[in-house]
Amino acid sequence: MCGIVGYVGRSEAAPILLDGLRRLEYRGYDSAGVAIVNGTCIETRKCAGRIADLARLMTRHPPVGHYGISHTRWATHGKVTDENAHPHFDASGRIALVHNGVIENYSALREQLEREGGHTFNSDTDTEVLAHLIGSIYQQLNGADSKARLVNATRAALKQVIGTYGIALVHSEIKDFIVGARRGSPLVLGVGRDENFLASDVSAIVAHTRDAVYLNDFDIVAVSRDSFDISSLAGEAGNYQISKVEFGAEDVSKGDFPHYMLKEIFEQPNSVRDAMRGRLDYDECTAKLGGLNMAPADLRDVNRIILTGCGTALHAALVGEYLIEQLANVPVEVEYASEFRHRNTPMSGDTLVFAISQSGETADTLGALRESRRKGFRTLGICNNVASTIARESDGGVYMHAGPEIGVAATKSFTSQVTILALIGLLLGRIRHLSTSQGSRVIEALEALPEQIEQVLKLSDHVRAIAKKYASADGMLFFGRQFNFPVALEGALKLKEITYLFAEGHPSAELKHGIIALVRPDLPSVFIAPDDAVFSKNLNNIEQVKARKGPIIALTSGNGSAHLKNIASDVIEIPCVSDVVAPVLTAIPLQLLAYHLAVELGRDVDKPRNLAKSVTVE
Ligand code: F6R
Repeated sequence: MCGIVGYVGRSEAAPILLDGLRRLEYRGYDSAGVAIVNGTCIETRKCAGRIADLARLMTRHPPVGHYGISHTRWATHGKVTDENAHPHFDASGRIALVHNGVIENYSALREQLEREGGHTFNSDTDTEVLAHLIGSIYQQLNGADSKARLVNATRAALKQVIGTYGIALVHSEIKDFIVGARRGSPLVLGVGRDENFLASDVSAIVAHTRDAVYLNDFDIVAVSRDSFDISSLAGEAGNYQISKVEFGAEDVSKGDFPHYMLKEIFEQPNSVRDAMRGRLDYDECTAKLGGLNMAPADLRDVNRIILTGCGTALHAALVGEYLIEQLANVPVEVEYASEFRHRNTPMSGDTLVFAISQSGETADTLGALRESRRKGFRTLGICNNVASTIARESDGGVYMHAGPEIGVAATKSFTSQVTILALIGLLLGRIRHLSTSQGSRVIEALEALPEQIEQVLKLSDHVRAIAKKYASADGMLFFGRQFNFPVALEGALKLKEITYLFAEGHPSAELKHGIIALVRPDLPSVFIAPDDAVFSKNLNNIEQVKARKGPIIALTSGNGSAHLKNIASDVIEIPCVSDVVAPVLTAIPLQLLAYHLAVELGRDVDKPRNLAKSVTVE
């Protein structure tokens, strides 16, 4: 989704803003722009297209100045055009504004301004309306202190806004000064020495400072070179703390990998290890999850669990349903976050809700979390982004500690989420019926994972060869059973996202209930069929595809290979693993398949079309 970077300091703003925008590219965008204050004039460069296009524009006509704001836009209101790219100006042309989010009542505000007169709009965006509104109020306010006037005008305008926003604005006649505010869209203040930053995501500024203030909803921040002041929309002094960002600029670089996605796939031995670090209790054969903020007695009282999230996080939740029901015998339901928040899911007092989100900012998941808490249910988060809104608004939770995930297609976050759900299943199980020997077997299976992931990653070249072989296919079908059914969904999602090919995931047995009509000699079917309790059932379905001349890519383990080598067109053999943690291993070859196929097809792997990393609109 849209990204914001603001800078005020002694250095030239242009390279800092441009570098910050490049680091936000992964969020997904279709146009970009900067506004830098040079003396009493605002220099703006903006265009539809890539940051590289903006950089070319800025090289031809370099904007000069020591403070400014910048933006990557992901269109919501108005087409992808140069005019609609941010920044936008007020009627006086002295205030420039960038905005993330959606101003739902922008038409009414626009009409109100048009009635007032003197407002001509140059774009179709809701953002321009907000710039005009702030400018109009600024003109009407009195007071010699122009900084306070700009903050007050922003506050008064935002009070009229229905919707979500993260904003940053500058006034051409207010030197070294930026105003920021947030509601529903993340905004972080980077505190430097003789310089300060604003960004929608710390990765944009971590090369300059690791001291960050994560703003809360309804905060307004006035940022100067050597100070900042945070107040609320109501005008009260804001509560804040300066946190140390856990990762550095090197963690948000590609290193020696051609793409972030591949780097993140190869990070999984470590990210899965980090998801378990310090959380395994060998004496009691259980998991230690202090962040849940729940005593054993509270956990024993839980008689129903709802797991909610979107996209890949939802697929991890589906694995969690199998895991928790198997290990803890507690009924689990998985809800699309976007549906859950709008429907009357029956819930009783002992229902525990988990909102799962890598970014911790997904609007639909945040909406589900808020709805669940509003109804009085204990709602926990499973997030990667430590300071995210979901992490902060939940009653407790478990951090993934996976490190920044920059590739738009989620990879390591899936395996970390599944690992954490296994820990939750283990903890709840051990409080209930799971014996010490069963608990200890789960711990052994979890501990073996990083090493086994290393082995799976060695298959990358083999998977690349398979991807090349099927590069002319116009889609793929994915099948799996039980724990691996959600992996089939995830494999299909990965393929769709980064290759733009048609793909569907199904439980293997559903094949004969309709999907088999799609089977044909040029449409490969990927079967996730490890050597487990349902292998022979999977084998039946594989034979059904084979009988109809459908090419089969089989992902298997143990004795499965011997059965499949004469049936499947291609076999990918992974280590033998316990059923409950199998999805951590089986997902990885499918991530590699999608990746290599996307590279083969010349797709923009890390920035697939139309997608955004952190989906902060509904
Ligand atoms: C898939 C993908 C998306 C996200 C979804 C939720 O590769 O990246 O489907 O999984 O948008 O994102 P988070 O986990 O940040 O809430």
